[in-house]
Order: sequence, then C-alpha cells, then structure tokens
Amino acid sequence: MMPAGWILALLVGALWMRERTRRERMRAQLLHRGWPTEWPIPRITLPELDPIFTPGPFGPTHDTEVRFIGRGSMDVPGGTSDAEAWILSVLALRATALFEFGTCTGKTSYLWARNAPADARIVTITLAPEQRDTVQVASGDDRRDLRFARNESAFTEFVYSGTDVAHKVEQHFGDSKQFDETPFVDFADVVFVDGSHAQSYVVSDSAKAMRIVKPGGLVLWHDYRGPSLTVGVYTALNELARTHALRHVDGSSLVAWRRPLA
Ligand SMILES: C[S@@+](CC[C@H](N)C(=O)[O-])C[C@H]1O[C@@H](n2cnc3c(N)ncnc32)[C@H](O)[C@@H]1O
Repeated sequence: MMPAGWILALLVGALWMRERTRRERMRAQLLHRGWPTEWPIPRITLPELDPIFTPGPFGPTHDTEVRFIGRGSMDVPGGTSDAEAWILSVLALRATALFEFGTCTGKTSYLWARNAPADARIVTITLAPEQRDTVQVASGDDRRDLRFARNESAFTEFVYSGTDVAHKVEQHFGDSKQFDETPFVDFADVVFVDGSHAQSYVVSDSAKAMRIVKPGGLVLWHDYRGPSLTVGVYTALNELARTHALRHVDGSSLVAWRRPLA
C-alpha cells in the first residue's frame, strides 16, 4: 500500500496543478479582453476615432475600402498589425498631408501613398544605418528600446521605392531629436509617431508631432503595449495623457490625439 505521505504529496500536487490551470485560464481571458484594464489611457472604438469607421449592417462599409498589403502571420520589421495598417490606410483616404516618424521598411508610407488622393504629400523621417551613432541617449531610456531602434535602422530602400506612387513620398534621413519641424508646423492631417521607442525620443517626437498636426487633425502613436514590452512608449504616453485627451484605439496598440479646432 502507498504510504500516507505519498498520498498527501500527490493530493497537494493535483490541487496545485488545478489552481495553476485556473489562473492561466483567467489570465488568458483577461488578456483577450484587453487586460490589464488599468492602463491609464482610456479606450475608444474605431467610430469614435473617426466616423468613417461607423459600421453598416455587414460591418465596415465600402467607405473604408483600401488597397492593402497584409502580413498575415509573417514577421515584418517594426511592422504594424493588419488591423493597424488598415486603420492607417483608411485615414489616408481623405488626407492630403501626412507625416511619419520612423519609416523602417516604408510600409506605412507606401500604404499612405497608395490610398491618399493624387495630390497628397507624405513626409517621413528615419535613421539611416550609417547614422545610428548620432542618437542622443538620455537617462531613463530603456536599453531594449534603444536596441530595437538601432536594429530597425537598416533601410535606405523602401516598399514604395520604384512604385508609381513614390513621387508622393518625401524621405528624410536623420535623428528625429535633431529634426527641425518648423517648416511643417500645422502641416499634417495625420501624424504617425513610430520612431525610436526610447522614452526621451517618444517625448521629443510627440512634442514635434503635436506642432506638425493641423487643427482638427490626428496624431497616432504605435506600440502602446503596457509596462513590460515597449516601456518608453508606455511611460511617455501615460505622462502626456495627464495633460492631453489621449485615447487608446480598441483592438490595436495605437493611441490617438485629435488636435482641437482652434
Ligand atoms: C518601428 S519602426 C517604424 C515602422 C514604420 N512606421 C512602419 O509602419 O512600417 C521604427 C523606425 O524608427 C527609426 N528610428 C529609430 N531611431 C530613430 C531616430 N533617433 N530618429 C529617427 N528615426 C529613428 C528606425 O530607423 C525605424 O525605421
């Protein structure tokens, strides 16, 4: 017969396993619902972001039809999700001036150029590989954020290069902290902040973005993913949200701010 000590150990083990499974199931459910819900920036739905997303009886309407390169389950350097790329493309449909911090592969610039009106102007700035050592690191910048920024600074040719919409894109190379945004003040209908995710860069790029966007226009930030993934974005945006009405767009890592009309 099995000793009582063994039986007790088996019983405790089984209870522990059951408790662990219960906790994992609960965590998965919470993650699915957008956990942790205590992230400080309040959420908005897509129609709240822009009425163009107001659904019809079948879901998104033909007003949100765009030309699109998806990614499915493929890895894309620095890339947006398919949902985010669709949102960004739809917003380009009625925009004539768009500005991006962080070009990377140039996928967003290309989607903007492809979907924006014929006279649209797309300005995008990125760090070229040989400019990696010009970055101005500040205390508080997370080493992982800085490493990603460095690794993603690998492109000088882009998805839009050589296409029939390339003429719409104005490519700038350089460190965004040293970029003079003065010529672009009140320029853009949409600004996408997706450059270095190091906190001091998100702070600097955000301040410039809020000057570049025109009254009534939108600033969108990428990669608001909580405290353990992109810590620089999370920290900088939570701080900014104390003074500005930032909103986290449902089903995405996008955060949005609409500049009030003057
Ligand atoms: C996340 S990727 C951008 C992805 C792109 N927006 C897209 O939608 O496909 C980040 C980009 O920021 C650029 N970057 C990193 N540090 C930068 C800096 N200090 N100044 C300007 N661009 C920077 C990188 O070169 C990289 O192209």
